[in-house]
Amino acid sequence: MCGIVGYVGKQKAAPFILEGLRRLEYRGYDSTGVAILQHGAFRIVKKIGRVANLETEVAKSPLTGTHGIGHTRWATHGGVTDANAHPHLSSDGKIVLIHNGVIENYSAIKKFLLGRGYTFASETDTEVLCNLIAYHYAKQADDAGENRCLAAVRKALLHTQGTYGIVVMCADLPGEMVAARLGSPLILGVGDGENIVASDVSAIVTRTQSVVYLKDGEIVHLTPREFRITTADRATVSPLVDQVTWSVADAEMGTYAHFMEKEIFEQPLALENAMRGRFSADGSTANFGGLNLSASEFRGIERVQFCACGTALHACMVTEHMIERFARVPVECDYASEFRYRNSPLHRNTLFFVMSQSGETIDTLAALREAQRKGYKVLAVSNVVGSTIAREADGGIYQHVGPEVGVASTKAFTSQLLIGAMLALYLGRLRDLSFGDGVEFVRALKAAPDLVRQALAQAPQIKAIAQRYAHHTDMLFLGRLALFPIALEGALKLKEISYLHAEGYPAAEMKHGPIALISEACPSVFFAPQGEILNKIVSSMQEIKARKGPIIAIVTEGVELPAGLADEVIVIPDCHEAVLPIVASIPVQLLSYYIAVERGCDVDKPRNLAKSVTVE
Ligand code: F6R
Repeated sequence: MCGIVGYVGKQKAAPFILEGLRRLEYRGYDSTGVAILQHGAFRIVKKIGRVANLETEVAKSPLTGTHGIGHTRWATHGGVTDANAHPHLSSDGKIVLIHNGVIENYSAIKKFLLGRGYTFASETDTEVLCNLIAYHYAKQADDAGENRCLAAVRKALLHTQGTYGIVVMCADLPGEMVAARLGSPLILGVGDGENIVASDVSAIVTRTQSVVYLKDGEIVHLTPREFRITTADRATVSPLVDQVTWSVADAEMGTYAHFMEKEIFEQPLALENAMRGRFSADGSTANFGGLNLSASEFRGIERVQFCACGTALHACMVTEHMIERFARVPVECDYASEFRYRNSPLHRNTLFFVMSQSGETIDTLAALREAQRKGYKVLAVSNVVGSTIAREADGGIYQHVGPEVGVASTKAFTSQLLIGAMLALYLGRLRDLSFGDGVEFVRALKAAPDLVRQALAQAPQIKAIAQRYAHHTDMLFLGRLALFPIALEGALKLKEISYLHAEGYPAAEMKHGPIALISEACPSVFFAPQGEILNKIVSSMQEIKARKGPIIAIVTEGVELPAGLADEVIVIPDCHEAVLPIVASIPVQLLSYYIAVERGCDVDKPRNLAKSVTVE
């Protein structure tokens, strides 16, 4: 949430910062802004709306300095206005600041600063922090040899409660900047005669593949040639410089109309990457390198607890089915945001898993920390290498699907389903799942990319259906067992990108209330795969049809529905039950995507949303 980028180097800062903001725009797009230090003064340009608006403003009077910061905002404190856009300037004109996070005690600090003559032009918590740094900067002389701006930031942060990723420049110190993080991501890009700080690597990879993932509580002082990382108590940190493994092209849209479309069609390859090298030599089980638990420790696990948010939680719910079915270990799934406060009693031999595409979701991170505080080991499934969750977990599994830029998660979701199925296989093979069943399971997983390709081939038919149904204002998604979470996910996808009201429900629950919604105006998307409860699902469909509800049925090959029962039928390949949720996700992703396109919605940047939710 909120994208930040800072550049200190030998080239003009503004073009690089604007390019970085375009790449970070998916983190927030309420307003954008840039501040460049040139000829001893800050030039700040900020505007509500997208980076394109900012580019138009900047083009009117080009910025020439080689040292600057930029921000793309997802509003927390204060409405979406030019004044509330970042960067913020202290009222004495000395300090300029960009911030991702929330300063919780901002009103007490503001009162203190108002009493000392500082004034405020915005309603934001960020401007308060900016003035607090200016206050400390003005108050102190060089502090035991420490750079004065760095010392001021350190002092101000001591009095700050909340979360932050910040980058600070001081008008008196050209060619320097200070950045710090607590709870919000911040990455340092180490270049040749230039250094960069940004919220994520997508803003850095155009210049350098060498990055340092800053940790909570760290403060970095940067010049074009050097950087020095310290902790709050001034201890120097030896940096670990990592190499980013993906390239600029991975984060580009290519010939697709939207990132979401690209990411939907990328799924066969994404699944191949997520499973590559992760099966045992005898082809009967999964292997994961970074779990950091022995087979016998896994064998001793009596319960598994998953915590996640949104789409990732739906992936956990499918995984619950898979682990209970194939490994016979009881599983609980919880919203991370609820888990962290509920204090539910936990079984002694519980293994914790968190799932998070970004690895930065604050509620998921807090759930991880809460479980660790109680003495549990926590493993993480995450897509972003070096993310906070990946680093703080006791072990984990990377999804390896490359950057997911579309705000609506697609390829990250199906790869989480795949990894969940592989976990079920792994745990199952440590218990009662036979060698033969394991081999069949592995074969089924390896077939998943091709099955997804076949499901994607239905895109033209699904697009035509979407065009016929895009005028509706309500839609239900109904499924059972492991496809119930896929119904929840279908409804979430539709809501978030097309702004239609949609709900996911277990199909048989309809008669306990929601069936009251059914009319000609409320279509239902039904999952009706081959299986022992197909007849029950067909009965639920009959109940909807009897009340004139239009039905879009997603069936597996070979399912024959009674004539006239479904208004639309989408056929997906029949497959192993561990793979079915992956394949069944494809038509609902496509349906949501094409409905949103038909309604003229901004698919990759839906209103009010941002990818990577780093505020509570
Ligand atoms: C929906 C979506 C969100 C995320 C949720 C968790 O399409 O993307 O619901 O799944 O915000 O994000 P991560 O997985 O990054 O923790």
